[in-house]
Amino acid sequence: MRVPIIAGNWKMHKTLDESVAFVRELAPKLAPFSGIERVVSPNYIALAAVADALKATDIQVSAQDVHWEDQGAYTSQISPHMLKGLVDYVIIGHSECRTYLGDTDENVNRKAKALLANDIKPIIAVGESLAQNEAGETQAFVGQQVRAALDGITAAQMQQIVFAYEPIWAIGTGKNASGEVANTIIGGTIRATLEDLYGGEVAAATRIQYGGSVKPSNMIEYMGQPDIDGALVGGASLKVDDFTELVALAAQAKGV
Ligand code: PGA
Repeated sequence: MRVPIIAGNWKMHKTLDESVAFVRELAPKLAPFSGIERVVSPNYIALAAVADALKATDIQVSAQDVHWEDQGAYTSQISPHMLKGLVDYVIIGHSECRTYLGDTDENVNRKAKALLANDIKPIIAVGESLAQNEAGETQAFVGQQVRAALDGITAAQMQQIVFAYEPIWAIGTGKNASGEVANTIIGGTIRATLEDLYGGEVAAATRIQYGGSVKPSNMIEYMGQPDIDGALVGGASLKVDDFTELVALAAQAKGV
């Protein structure tokens, strides 16, 4: 069975002190839901302190992006080597990094391989723009993003990889893909591409999240879908009660 995974992507929110106070409040509330993998993704300033505050819990920590080199003359960047032992996951390929920071499919692939080499699990975000969606290009575009991200990655390494399908037009907009549509892309495009690349066993074992305006009121709609294994959550992950409710609803929907 695929263990459901709910990850809170805090983006550029919360100071160091706010981040630590937040997880101290959150951790006991999430403790009962051990059937769900629960992940928080603070900013780089707060990462080490949040990891430390969560050390005695089973809540996992993710970074929001990474460089692909282990060290070098890359002003402003953080390397997988620096994150090794500190985080469990790193989100790569988020549409905000693709749109505002110039991230490309090729760089996402480099980052994925660099993370795997450092024993860190990538959460690879993919998703189409509104224009692509309206032009009927979603399946071809997302399938190609998946293939590009996985270039050179082995079937054995696939155990470490999580995908997040995030239609760009649904992120932070309050608009969202229906559960059924999201399930169709996740199952019919992403999982089908994995099957084509690695075979049925890998495709069936890989976890794929939905992301984009996920909130308590629509969580069951997503988690009730057979191919959706969790959520990558922005806005609603910034409040202790909302994030706790999302995890509780996922546990209910998945029966764990
Ligand atoms: P949102 O963000 O939940 O605020 O739409 C999701 C994401 O960008 O990961």
